[in-house]
Amino acid sequence: MALLFCALLSIAPACYHMEIEILGNVQSFKQQGGLLTIKTIEAEAKVYVYSPTIIRVNISKKHSKPDSSYAVIRNADAHLEFTESADAIEINTTAIKLRIQKSPLRFNFFTADGKPISQDDNRFGTNWQGGRVVTYRKLYADEKFIGLGEKAGNLDRRGTSYVNWNTDAVDYNNKSDPLYKTFPFFIGLHSGLTYGLFLDNTHKSYFDFGATTDDEMSWFGADGGDMNYYFFGAQGVAKIIEDYTWLTGRMEMPPLWSLGYQQCRWSYMSAKEVLKIAKTFRKKKIPADVMYCDIDYMEGFKIFTWNKKTFSDPQAMMNELKKMGFHLVTIVDPGIKIEEGYKQYDEGVANDYFAKYPDGENYTGYVWPGRCHFPDFFRDDVREWWGAAFTALTDVGVDGFWNDMNEPAAWGQNIPWMVKFADKYMPEVRNAYGMQMARATYGGTRKLLNNKRPFVLTRAAYAGTQRYSAVWTGDNTGTDEHMLLGQRLVNSLGITGMAFTGVDIGGFSANPTPELMVRWNSLGIYTPMFRNHAIKGSKMREPWEWGDANEQIIKKDIEQRYKLLPYIYSAFYQSTQTGLPISRTLAIGFPFDEKVYFERFQNQFMFGDALLVAPVESDKLTTDVYLPKGNWYQLSTGEKLKGGKIVKVASPLTDLPVFVKAGAIIPIQSITQSTAAKGDGILQLHIWNGKEATDFLYYEDDGSSYDYEQGAYYKRTIRFDPKKKSVTLSAVEGMFFSRFDKLSIVWHGFERGANDKVVDFVKEEMAVRFV
Ligand code: GLC
Repeated sequence: MALLFCALLSIAPACYHMEIEILGNVQSFKQQGGLLTIKTIEAEAKVYVYSPTIIRVNISKKHSKPDSSYAVIRNADAHLEFTESADAIEINTTAIKLRIQKSPLRFNFFTADGKPISQDDNRFGTNWQGGRVVTYRKLYADEKFIGLGEKAGNLDRRGTSYVNWNTDAVDYNNKSDPLYKTFPFFIGLHSGLTYGLFLDNTHKSYFDFGATTDDEMSWFGADGGDMNYYFFGAQGVAKIIEDYTWLTGRMEMPPLWSLGYQQCRWSYMSAKEVLKIAKTFRKKKIPADVMYCDIDYMEGFKIFTWNKKTFSDPQAMMNELKKMGFHLVTIVDPGIKIEEGYKQYDEGVANDYFAKYPDGENYTGYVWPGRCHFPDFFRDDVREWWGAAFTALTDVGVDGFWNDMNEPAAWGQNIPWMVKFADKYMPEVRNAYGMQMARATYGGTRKLLNNKRPFVLTRAAYAGTQRYSAVWTGDNTGTDEHMLLGQRLVNSLGITGMAFTGVDIGGFSANPTPELMVRWNSLGIYTPMFRNHAIKGSKMREPWEWGDANEQIIKKDIEQRYKLLPYIYSAFYQSTQTGLPISRTLAIGFPFDEKVYFERFQNQFMFGDALLVAPVESDKLTTDVYLPKGNWYQLSTGEKLKGGKIVKVASPLTDLPVFVKAGAIIPIQSITQSTAAKGDGILQLHIWNGKEATDFLYYEDDGSSYDYEQGAYYKRTIRFDPKKKSVTLSAVEGMFFSRFDKLSIVWHGFERGANDKVVDFVKEEMAVRFV
């Protein structure tokens, strides 16, 4: 049933045809195990139940195509039960009622007890507009939308629209779209209910949250492929994130060193300069773990080479760095320079590893090295080859791998759509290219490092990238606005499974003021990846470049990061188990609290379970903070504050407003110069008084190997019970010995001085009582 639209453009002499095809009415349906296949004259819809809270709908014009996904790692093996009436088929799980209307075919989701959560717009439903497939949904009066990962704009995306098309977004700002990454997953909230929707389609995709539809409809779609979405019906944002990351995977435990302070620059121009910077950290006793080599460490920007003059003895450099307790991360871009005699070029050509035009010619684009070919990371053999080439870096001891320019970027941006990757054209897979590069890098380096954990960082990504890599938010700018935007990007990436995220602290381009540098660094304490990075030609950014007084503040803040590492590492562990991010928009814990979405509070976030952080511009020395309901303590002053209120607090550069949730349990260690240093062996357990009993899952392992997969970890639940006046530590799980031998308990907010206690951090279950 194709309708032909003909719009006569006043300036164009010819007629413009756009074929609109609608979904039509149900003709037949059948069930095979966990799959219900529904046929209309025009299309076929498949409905799969993945779990009681996850249902997939795949609507396609092309029948029986092979089913594949870069993002999804689960199969639909849950039970599918349905009933049929004259006008509908109903699938019921314990959490969702999916009412499939027969004429026309529409998909309407309800809670198990019948409350509408997400319904097709009955007029339009799903249809095809030329090659584009679109689903229109009813918009609820109070509906809010969060998610889509790295997208500029507000926390609540209502009234805006977005495109996913991975782009080298040079000079982006708070209105720019698209940016570097594609996460076609959002969470809708209305009437006290929540749902999630993941459009698993790598084509250029579109999300319109009521921007253009007179507040009647939202819509989403893609330029090709199927209307292939996963519907999440769990109630609660955290539960939906848990389900989404169950479906698309979770990050692994990162190497502990990657949670330390990271110093980067485009570029430290020689081994001598890298070492000088590293030595200065140690001399000044500013904790740090990571140095970076940006593109200038290479010979003519050729990947997997070292510059023979400026990095003439990488092994010697690495030995020195290691002696000082530093790790090195080196950049790799996908563009392989066209140059005979260059190993990667020769091998790539000989084995046909590069992306091609349909006639078999290798695609050529310009990037840093000049004319380049681009590895076809969609092929297993190419990923193997790429992964194995990292010996050039791992042999000397590099264990961090920074994947850049993988949107893929080429000067001028417009890579012809005729370029083929494996058996697919560019528009179909562009959004997954960066992810496949990160996958190849992770796979290869994990093998090469034997049992050691690689650190992989990527700029471009697609849903599921958390399985392979951390991400950062590309080339930001040294302004207050960017600092706040960066925090929203990190918080939003966290909704879409990316827990290990960072921004260029200080801003990549433009020089931050000293005040902004200090402020941004203090926010870095509470950013999952704490990396300072800057563009070539900018003012040097290291902590000592901002005057003595500022250096002292920066140093103190970096020390605070190191003190918090036991807490942060446990938060990472929690994320590997539940998918909950480390930096959490308040919309996760307080989804129906309107104030959380106010522009002036929307940047606030929880860092782990216990800390609420309020980012503030560098020139604002007092600020309003919204504390959601409950009781809170200001971290720096210990002052107790009642939540459900806006509070005015001082926010000098020495004191970013951070608040502790009442009842919080935060393990802290002594200041060390690197994450590998043991410190004084005492784990301080800070406990803030509260009314209800609280738990903290403490986790530790060797921080570097995969032995934890075989049980070499140290895990125990710490429980604070104000009614019983006790802190109990459960028996230790796992076969790893903690690097702390003593535990000291530090009480906060207890009226009648509870005694500080120092006890053995030993294997047995124990209880510490206080008065
Ligand atoms: C890109 C990256 C940036 C890097 C630069 C040079 O702009 O986003 O982080 O420093 O390339 O490699």
